[in-house]
Amino acid sequence: MERLYIEGGIRLQGDVTVHGAKNSALPLLVATLLTGDTSRLTNCPPLSDVAATGSILRHLGCQVTQSADTVTVDSTTITRSDIPDRLMREMRSSILFLGAIVARCGEATLTYPGGCELGPRPIDLHLAALKRLGVQVEEDHGAIHCYVNGRLQGADITLAFPSVGATENVLLTACLAEGVTILRNAAREPEIRDLCTYLNGCGARIYEQAEGVLCIDGVSRLHGCVHEVLPDRIEAATFLAAAAVTGGAVTLHRCQPSHLAAVFPVLEEAGCSLAIGQDTVRLLAPPRLTGFGTVRTMPYPGFPTDSAAPLLAASCTARGTTVYVESIFENRYRYVDELARMGARIRVDGRVAVVDGVKSLQGASVTCTDLRGGAALVVAALGAAGRSDITALHHLDRGYAYLEQSLTGLGARILRENRD
Ligand code: EPZ
Repeated sequence: MERLYIEGGIRLQGDVTVHGAKNSALPLLVATLLTGDTSRLTNCPPLSDVAATGSILRHLGCQVTQSADTVTVDSTTITRSDIPDRLMREMRSSILFLGAIVARCGEATLTYPGGCELGPRPIDLHLAALKRLGVQVEEDHGAIHCYVNGRLQGADITLAFPSVGATENVLLTACLAEGVTILRNAAREPEIRDLCTYLNGCGARIYEQAEGVLCIDGVSRLHGCVHEVLPDRIEAATFLAAAAVTGGAVTLHRCQPSHLAAVFPVLEEAGCSLAIGQDTVRLLAPPRLTGFGTVRTMPYPGFPTDSAAPLLAASCTARGTTVYVESIFENRYRYVDELARMGARIRVDGRVAVVDGVKSLQGASVTCTDLRGGAALVVAALGAAGRSDITALHHLDRGYAYLEQSLTGLGARILRENRD
């Protein structure tokens, strides 16, 4: 079993580079399927979710190669249109293959996706939107069989909620449909814009008609292109939380500060000072943070749900109280019991968590419950007195490819051990 040992209480200092975004890389990789050509994604970190997406692409007949942070996909030949349950369960974004395979092959058979357990994660919005584009959906004992009679047809679609995944699925399906699709109440996350940029680079015609309204003018075919994955705003926020909890002075490089705009006021309220450059952020933290007030997660451009856990961990030792309200997922506080093992005082009631800051946390043996919950444990361990060991690292490996190297570069004492 792998363990991460962290010796806490060391002030983080120095420079760290932000890597490519998982939540952009995954839909981009799925989108390569539409082109029937070769695409190269740069700044695409070697995450386990990226590998899992590569496995699905290979299963479908694509040639996939990854060297360092570049992934090349040749989707010239597709040999099948089904995905087995074993591969679907690897991650949530496997559901994006539904739209892409139907658009490429006219039919697709797959099952419900896996991913972090954050409460119910239905796909009703995906299926309803795809039906509007002419996709027939039949469900049988957990299998979802989709097909199109003739060509996909553009449609006017309004999402009941600006779901990131449903927006991506519509984009993937509609760019090869006949006619124009208008998608209203679309998600506005930067990863959506990154997907549109890639697809337009491949010959698609997608533009933003207004805030949250996407217009997709269908084309008959796409071609491959080279695309650089945008920087990971959640990894960036995790580094900032780690710097803040250790009273550190850290500069992020190769990030996109505008994507972090909702996170900055929270850190400033905690007493940190920030210097924002074009693609850099420098954070200087006080020896002890103050409570952050109320942090309410919202769809972009609101405070990102994925950044709440690392920030919550940082607020465990702040002076005063911080209240978190989770508006996106029903059950995102499973990691809180692990933080309690380190001495954190947190009360959870449904979607609300109230953190009463304590003077210090103590290192402990803790287990990751999900990806961002795992990041919270790392942040807490960096700020705690003494040694922590963290298990169930497969959760962390889904979203942080260079965690140990990045934190070691900032002076942290962190070591991964494999006892097998
Ligand atoms: C994406 O998940 C991200 N995953 C998540 O990141 C992120 O937390 C989330 O967007 C919100 O920003 C990827 O990009 C791979 P949603 P997604 O569809 O697409 C409900 C991380 O830690 N909903 O916007 O699954 C749903 O249950 C992960 O990196 C429906 O009810 O998010 C949830 O409550 C975790 N029906 C809410 O909408 C649907 O058909 C938001 O989900 C679809 C969604």
